[in-house]
Amino acid sequence: LRGRSLSVTSLSGLPQWEVEELPVQDLLLFEVAWEVTNKVGGIYTVIQTKARTTVDEWGDNYFLIGPYFEQNMKTQVEQCEPVNYTVKRAVETMNKHGCQVRFGRWLIEGSPYVVLFDIGYSAWNLDRWKGDLWEACSVGIPYHDREANDMLIFGSLTAWFLKEVTDHMEDKHVIAHFHEWQAGIGLILSRARKLPIATIFTTHATLLGRYLCAANIDFYNHLDKFDIDKEAGERQIYHRYCMERAAVHCAHVFTTVSEITAIEAEHMLRRKPDVVTPNGLNVKKFSAVHEFQNLHATYKARIQDFVRGHFYGHLDFDLEKTLFLFIAGRYEFSNKGADIFLESLSRLNFLLRMHKSDVTVVVFFIMPAKTNNFNVETLKGQAVRKQLWDTAHSVKEKFGKKLYDALLRGEIPDMHNILDRDDLTIMKRAIFSTQRQSLPPVTTHNMIDDSTDPILSTIRRIGLFNSRTDRVKVILHPEFLSSTSPLLPMDYEEFVRGCHLGVFPSYYEPWGYTPAECTVMGIPSVTTNLSGFGCFMQEHVADPTAYGIYIVDRRFRSPDDSCNQLTQFLYGFCKQSRRQRIIQRNRTERLSDLLDWRYLGRYYQHARHLTLSRAFPDKFHMEPTTPPTTEGFKYPRPSSVPPSPTGSQVSSPQSSDVEDEDEDERYNEEEEAERDRINIKSPFSLGPVPHGKKKLHGEYKN
Ligand code: UDP
Ligand code: G6P
Ligand code: GLC
Repeated sequence: LRGRSLSVTSLSGLPQWEVEELPVQDLLLFEVAWEVTNKVGGIYTVIQTKARTTVDEWGDNYFLIGPYFEQNMKTQVEQCEPVNYTVKRAVETMNKHGCQVRFGRWLIEGSPYVVLFDIGYSAWNLDRWKGDLWEACSVGIPYHDREANDMLIFGSLTAWFLKEVTDHMEDKHVIAHFHEWQAGIGLILSRARKLPIATIFTTHATLLGRYLCAANIDFYNHLDKFDIDKEAGERQIYHRYCMERAAVHCAHVFTTVSEITAIEAEHMLRRKPDVVTPNGLNVKKFSAVHEFQNLHATYKARIQDFVRGHFYGHLDFDLEKTLFLFIAGRYEFSNKGADIFLESLSRLNFLLRMHKSDVTVVVFFIMPAKTNNFNVETLKGQAVRKQLWDTAHSVKEKFGKKLYDALLRGEIPDMHNILDRDDLTIMKRAIFSTQRQSLPPVTTHNMIDDSTDPILSTIRRIGLFNSRTDRVKVILHPEFLSSTSPLLPMDYEEFVRGCHLGVFPSYYEPWGYTPAECTVMGIPSVTTNLSGFGCFMQEHVADPTAYGIYIVDRRFRSPDDSCNQLTQFLYGFCKQSRRQRIIQRNRTERLSDLLDWRYLGRYYQHARHLTLSRAFPDKFHMEPTTPPTTEGFKYPRPSSVPPSPTGSQVSSPQSSDVEDEDEDERYNEEEEAERDRINIKSPFSLGPVPHGKKKLHGEYKN
């Protein structure tokens, strides 16, 4: 590679490394994904959070390519003219030839340039482009698969755009990085047309993996036994699977997000990934170390308010002893582990009742489903709460005035007369309004498929109906959260911060952003050893449980045993005192550097180096090297944890029966001291070498 070496400073405690800087001034980087400015699931998070570090490296030579949707453009993109002449020309040429291509800056951190294609506007080309695809790789797309047809249009426009760019490039080289099968056609066509570009394809899941797991097949024990063509055919996704597989095999460099998905890809797509590119996050550090703890308290108060309304008339539990748990993400009932979570909740409910625990658990399911808006009972709950608040406030005002007047007269008021008959009437009426005939609702919305919905059906079966005796209460919010919601006006990040534990016991989860996001916000979470994130943490943290990362074993245990293990984790969590939770949150947050793109971005850098050396071997040379793995650095067990086997109770912070809020601060400070004591100069082997030329420094910073 022609470039100069760049030393990247290490993040606290993590190994330093060096990478060779690419001559980015002579290169253009395009990253293509259906989720650019378009939120569907975790791929949006990859692209959006990675933007800042990529822009830092590539500046104005970095462009994201995605689909145009009017609403997304209006709310997220500032339209502007391309500064780069070649890109400007390509946009103009396509617009002149009957396409609608928009250009602008995506208003996220890093403000990357985006090129957005209007899919509907170019739909009239569909038949011709179907022919092109057939010629390129003999894959035909049935007319009824609307999504695949949209992807064909998207891919054809992408390949056209890249051709316009490469046709008029002076001595610059292009890297095009495609994400997931939806973007794959752009890659297939670019390669079929022999465009001079270095390509990368990243899969975030395999189509077959997702389908087979959702069908409750024992997937991981039969990975090498599936007749994959047949399986794809039987599930009527043969054409999609062909597109995916063709894209994988056309790419100069193939990557995926975790080791577990790398193995899956080898079997489902018949190519071993060249590089594993674990997903990172854009980690924000607060100037005050404990600010994230304060945020937890602030947002928890907002959730408590919602719960006051939702459970009006049934608020016979202590909100200070109520824990908020949640599961969130795409609604894939068994893939996301909602099935075993519900079963464990039923067992947890039993355990808490049997042990006469004074802890109440409120569990939120945030999984989008088809709905007809909020239901009346749920909205009424918040209205009742507001009414009670207003009543209390007006009585308090009158009371305060009387008190003040009495004091001015030099008297202590007669407490028996300070409330008059009217006040009592208002208060009684307010209390009467809190009477309800039904139990607090399980779902916040009117569900379209109410009777067949898997979460609701399971709740009916296990009988978790929010009755007074239940220690575990359930709320299904079948819509992603939003700060403009009239019901629970919080965005997802605020909600996560306010909760106590995220529970993500997935069966199929190539990475799993949701527990990773909890970690960087200092909120403990449950994950599994079948999720990319769970395995990554197992590999990099000596005692994940001590750090608030509970990893359910779904690989070597039966579903029932996994369920028992999850129940034990949850029950153990419920038994912790406030102090223990605070200590645990401090530890969790300490892992965030490991998930920072400033650290994990190097795997993307490595993939880019590799593709250049494969596509343009005369210009870009790379010494043969083992691809970077994620092996190496490991966070040591916190020094205060006894060196006993991992288990929820053993590894949780030292127990105490006393709950003393005044001691919170002291505990935070003690934690800090503990942090300093941690032996981060660990004897673990050095982190991976991103490429063959430079070795890591091998220094660990305290
Ligand atoms: N998410 C969100 N709003 C919500 C719930 C979830 O934006 O109300 C996001 C969450 O931040 C995460 C993504 O949805 O980044 C889910 O990604 P994950 O990798 O966990 O799963 P996927 O849906 O991609 O399978
Ligand atoms: C944070 C705040 C504390 C608060 C605590 C509640 O640590 O800084 O002031 O007492 O959260 O913790 P809990 O786990 O009970 O929500
Ligand atoms: C996919 C996977 C998810 C992963 C995300 C981002 O949607 O289902 O596990 O976190 O992509 O890579």
